[in-house]
Amino acid sequence: MAEIISGTAIRKEILSELKQEIQEMHEKHGIVPGLATILVGNNPASVSYVTLKAKTAKDIGCLEIQDNRPENISEQELLDIIRQYNDDPRIHGILVQLPLPRHINENKVLYAIDPDKDVDGFHPVNVGRMLIGGEVTGFLPCTPAGIQEMLVRSGTELSGAEVVVVGRSNIVGKPLSVLLAQKGRGGNATVTMVHTGTRNLAEHCRRADVLIVAAGRPGLVQADWIKPGATVIDVGVNRIGFNETTGKPILSGDVDFEAAEKIAGKITPVPGGVGPMTIAMLMKNTVLSAKRHLNLC
Ligand code: GUN
Repeated sequence: MAEIISGTAIRKEILSELKQEIQEMHEKHGIVPGLATILVGNNPASVSYVTLKAKTAKDIGCLEIQDNRPENISEQELLDIIRQYNDDPRIHGILVQLPLPRHINENKVLYAIDPDKDVDGFHPVNVGRMLIGGEVTGFLPCTPAGIQEMLVRSGTELSGAEVVVVGRSNIVGKPLSVLLAQKGRGGNATVTMVHTGTRNLAEHCRRADVLIVAAGRPGLVQADWIKPGATVIDVGVNRIGFNETTGKPILSGDVDFEAAEKIAGKITPVPGGVGPMTIAMLMKNTVLSAKRHLNLC
């Protein structure tokens, strides 16, 4: 049976490291990292994500401003709010929860965030910095950085490994493919990015020493797509129903977990795998931003 890579356990480790750093920052420099989370409307999934991000930030000792706005806010009002946080010295990270209502241009909003406070790593300046790599980097996008961190902390060999990434989204597939191919810690892999236009999807997957699936299709990857002993990272979060007693959604990944854990060497569960890592990396970026503000790195 495969070893389970627990995002929940790794998140706990990272958050306790960050809590310690924040305490020291407060003692030595008299400031704590500040995060502003902006939520427009009340999409239930977004409300639950933002609430968890805000709570986690508070738990580790950050200043947290949870800024909830009505669905009918105008694009201009939202841009003005972002400018206020750009100019607020207490705030080191700004996060606008996506998706936004249709009358608001998502890119226009994301591009208005100061790249040096863009802890989601979605601003084109940070995407460019990530692509160039090297020492002067901005903020890495949280889900790809979390996956890389899980691979490193679980002792998965990446250098020279065959990595197959299923999915080409701007949030996961594209940036992750770049990160894992970069030189250095957690990189140096041979990466193939496959997508809905790929012929023989299963054949590519069977070559993978590390298979990462971010397709948004429940149960897409079957056991016979997995090379025996491979590491499988399931990024899918699909709501496949509701628990009648609790009313909470039942989540499933993109991988047929029960069959896959008999073949894989290591595997991430859903929930409790990649999801918790995304929040941990958001906190890491917020602390990094505050350290940069203090010229500590
Ligand atoms: N919506 C879904 N995932 C994300 C994320 O990582 N960041 C933001 N801001 N919105 C999201």
